[in-house]
Amino acid sequence: MTQLATIVILTGAGISAESGIDTFRSAGGLWERHRIEDVATPEGFARNPGLVLGFYDARRAALAQAAPNPAHLALARLEREFAGKVLLVTQNVDDLHERGGSREVVHMHGELKSALCLACETRSPWGAPLLGEAGERPPCPVCAAPMLRPDIVWFGEMPYQMGRIYEALGQCDLFVSIGTSGAVYPAAGFVQEARAAGARTLELNLEPSEGSHFFHESRNGPAGLLVPRWVDEVLEGSTRKRASHEG
Ligand code: OAD
Repeated sequence: MTQLATIVILTGAGISAESGIDTFRSAGGLWERHRIEDVATPEGFARNPGLVLGFYDARRAALAQAAPNPAHLALARLEREFAGKVLLVTQNVDDLHERGGSREVVHMHGELKSALCLACETRSPWGAPLLGEAGERPPCPVCAAPMLRPDIVWFGEMPYQMGRIYEALGQCDLFVSIGTSGAVYPAAGFVQEARAAGARTLELNLEPSEGSHFFHESRNGPAGLLVPRWVDEVLEGSTRKRASHEG
């Protein structure tokens, strides 16, 4: 741990579970109640925009009831206090990392608090519903066309900032995956990418994920417990390193 200089962290729905946000693949998760083809593909949106807008409007509204948990807060502390570099990449579309204090977060699957205009392709911060009570759709703040869609990366679409993510994976000393099932690529392949580049790899998840065997180490338990403990370990290591340099 004392040699750590660069950490890449990948988070998934499991880190927000203790904040009351639904995961996707657990029993009773979102993908048991909704068909991916209907609510998470461009084709589903073309077939029934009202259904899709309503689905994401409800998820955005649910965010107001949720608060960051100790795992989000610990990652923000790591970003503030760790002497090296930390890149936090999340598959989550909630804003709990930011509300927990993280300043730099890569939302590779988009954000609920953002809207994407199908007319001018601008991404705009967005906190209101995208579907009115009478079925009307609000105008884009940039071009005024009533053609906003959720700024969510759907199946078949390219995740955001992949160049930056792969560059960081190729240079990190430690890759940590938190609360993700390892079922969705390209994120599920990050562990192999980091390992191939020489990084140590650690998984923190409630249970072993689909890709657990790719990691050097897997710790199982709730993120709210495991993540603060792991952050303490890293910060203790980096503090000792600074102290020994000063000495
Ligand atoms: P999943 O629902 O597939 O997996 C969540 C993981 O978190 C599972 O492995 C759970 O065991 C674990 N988990 C649950 N509660 C936990 C807790 N309290 N602490 C730690 N771990 C816990 O969610 P993701 O892996 O994030 O994409 O899903 C990846 C992508 O699939 C999502 O970004 C979404 C979805 O389809 C799109 O919508 C494009």
